[in-house]
Amino acid sequence: MVRIIAGAQWGDEGKGKIIDILAGRADVVVRSQGGNNAGHTVVFDNKTYKLHLIPSGILYKDVICCIGCGTVIDPKVIIEEIETLKACGITFDNLKIDKRAHIIMPYHIKLDELQEAYRGGSDIGTTKRGIGPCYTDKTERCGIRFCDMLDKDVFIRKLAETMRLKNEIITKVYGGEAFSVEKVAEEYLGYAEKLREYAADVSVITYEAIKEGKNVLFEGAQATLLDIDMGTYPYVTSSHPVAAGACIGTGVGPTVIDSCLGIAKSYTTRVGKGPFPTELFDETGDTIRNVGGEFGTTTGRPRRCGWFDAVIVRHSVRVNGFTELAINKLDTLSGFDTLKVCMAYRYTDKDGNVFVTRNFPASLEELERCEPVYDCLPGWKEDITHCKSFDELPEKAQKYIERLEQLTDCRISMVGVGPSREQNLER
Ligand code: GDP
Ligand code: IMO
Ligand code: MG
Repeated sequence: MVRIIAGAQWGDEGKGKIIDILAGRADVVVRSQGGNNAGHTVVFDNKTYKLHLIPSGILYKDVICCIGCGTVIDPKVIIEEIETLKACGITFDNLKIDKRAHIIMPYHIKLDELQEAYRGGSDIGTTKRGIGPCYTDKTERCGIRFCDMLDKDVFIRKLAETMRLKNEIITKVYGGEAFSVEKVAEEYLGYAEKLREYAADVSVITYEAIKEGKNVLFEGAQATLLDIDMGTYPYVTSSHPVAAGACIGTGVGPTVIDSCLGIAKSYTTRVGKGPFPTELFDETGDTIRNVGGEFGTTTGRPRRCGWFDAVIVRHSVRVNGFTELAINKLDTLSGFDTLKVCMAYRYTDKDGNVFVTRNFPASLEELERCEPVYDCLPGWKEDITHCKSFDELPEKAQKYIERLEQLTDCRISMVGVGPSREQNLER
């Protein structure tokens, strides 16, 4: 079974939790895009693990965990993550990092900061981890890859070439301070030695595992509405979190994929800036944030909260080709009298004509002229965190899930009622 798992909203849908659950039945878990902008939480044995780059299968020592060519790696961060997890007794003999993956350099992090400041009020609200500038260099063809870092001469040559221009931009455009090639080289060559043992060809490992009939899971980071093409551009990340990105970012073809599982929450959240049609600015939004613990795993920023938006999830079902959905955090919605679900958008054009659309618009200016059309559903009061099966859920909670299924045009195969492995109801 070869399965892709991808976020269906704006991230933080509980992908880490679902990967950890499914990794118990997998042989290989592969991260194929993004970097340490991601924060995936796994709760196991009363311990909470926050993973940024390491695949969420790492808690199982026999699962091979791969970081594919489509990712961007901050070596300092990954080394710290490995060391922290090792101190918790986690082993890393099963970690593989693709030699084609691009490396986040100190000037990428600096440029992320400087560019955000330069944008002033129209900043994107990035995680400031250097993700965008690193992907920019990759497409501009001046990036530094893991394989380059493993060869001292190649690394120093490429670094000197790239840094000449980077330092000009940092000092002359932004008035920042130049980096020293020697210092960066020394620091990164030290990281290279610590990471050398993990260097691999993830495309080969994954392909061979698939040919042997093994279970392979692709762990998406970020989510569809943050995809560089299918998301709310320019308020997106710089990679392809959609399901198809897993193939490119690993080096396998689409014909090997059996199924695609989309992860969503029972409501919507977003960190960073950008449009969010169902956002709540009132007490209801605050309640969802507080009850759901909606604070960023990576940056600690409060997440913006709103009702479930079936327009965006249906968009995700289409662009990812989801065969099923998991809906997490249904427990957060316990206690409301009424729950709203956005079914469509009411769009008013510049001449005052009104249209109703069920498709997510490309233009943010159009999106700004859209208002959600809500369906109202009765809420439930019971605590559902101890439910062990879908049938045990209060009838109104079951009906809520069934309504989401209708509105998203996709089967809901899992429902989350709490953060731990056991709090996942399979249907
Ligand atoms: P990811 O980035 O998609 O992996 O999600 P995050 O880990 O950033 O954020 C999801 C948060 O929700 C984490 O704190 C999880 O422990 C938590 N979580 C996941 N599923 C559930 C659920 O069904 N109920 C509750 N209450 N929390 C959940
Ligand atoms: P996981 O995998 C939520 C958001 C940032 C910002 C935009 C661009 O945990 O779901 P970037 O630093 O990537 O250039 O920032 O993308 N963002 C995320 N939001 N969850 C994530 O990852 C995110 N990764 C990036 O907040 O709005
Ligand atoms: Mg997260």
